[in-house]
Amino acid sequence: MNISGTTRVLGIFGCPVSHTLSPLMHNTAIEALGLDMVYMPFEVKPDNLADAVNAIRALNIVGVNITIPHKKSIIPFLDEISNDAKLIGAVNTIVNRKGKLIGHNTDGGGYIKSLGSELGFNVKGKNVLILGAGGAARAIAAGIAKGGACRIVIANRTVERGMSLADGFRSLFRDVEIIATGIKEKSLMRYVPDADLIVNTTSAGMNDKGGVKVPLKAVSTNAVVSDIIYKPRITKFLRNADKLGIRTHSGLGMLVEQGALSFKLWTGYDMPKDIVYKKLARKR
Ligand code: ATR
Repeated sequence: MNISGTTRVLGIFGCPVSHTLSPLMHNTAIEALGLDMVYMPFEVKPDNLADAVNAIRALNIVGVNITIPHKKSIIPFLDEISNDAKLIGAVNTIVNRKGKLIGHNTDGGGYIKSLGSELGFNVKGKNVLILGAGGAARAIAAGIAKGGACRIVIANRTVERGMSLADGFRSLFRDVEIIATGIKEKSLMRYVPDADLIVNTTSAGMNDKGGVKVPLKAVSTNAVVSDIIYKPRITKFLRNADKLGIRTHSGLGMLVEQGALSFKLWTGYDMPKDIVYKKLARKR
């Protein structure tokens, strides 16, 4: 990588950021396309967030990704928020347009794109069961509702949290049936057999610890079981589904597709996704 006097800067703000694969992903794309850019990790403590946002303007940084714990708290510091970011209530990408900072969210769109590109799966008219009701579930639910799903069931350990997410989305997507339920087997059994897509958005199963308990034997033969966790690439949940011959979808695709949408917003270029995907898959 050649850094010169003309090199433009991209990056990611988070705390911690040491675990992130985004620098590898974007720098691989930058190198493959021969762009005069570099993508840097910036550990930004919550107390320094306002200063960090001002630094985007002061240093003329092209744009940044935003990750834990700043996705919501960054919103008041921005000049404009895209419709998707408003709907999700969180920002994962900032674009610097001549000092005007615009917040976007590419998580939901990236998820839908990866289902399409990897499996040819379209959510239109489908029944979807989402496990979890946190920030990631909100982004995925937004993508799925916008994609024209027929029914979305939000199953969460804390049922009230699922209800609040379902209530908010019901008023925005009147054509989609939106239901909240618990995550215990008895609650899931009501919805698993009819589900075309079951997606785990909870952190259970990350780093191969624990995992969600879904009655996989009741899953329909045409359904897809998906996990947005990408560490490990194939979670126990996906391994168990795969053993039963169910089609599976891992979190790496969503990571690359949300990154590709951000990359396009910053650079105007299509990310060379095959090269990036291979690099990330080899890394882990
Ligand atoms: P994120 O932004 O990654 O979605 P989050 O907002 O903290 O993170 O949400 C984490 C989600 O994982 C929640 O749905 C949480 O359930 P609760 O709302 O009941 O806390 C879910 N979760 C975390 N650990 C879990 C576990 N061991 N079993 C089931 N659900 C779990």
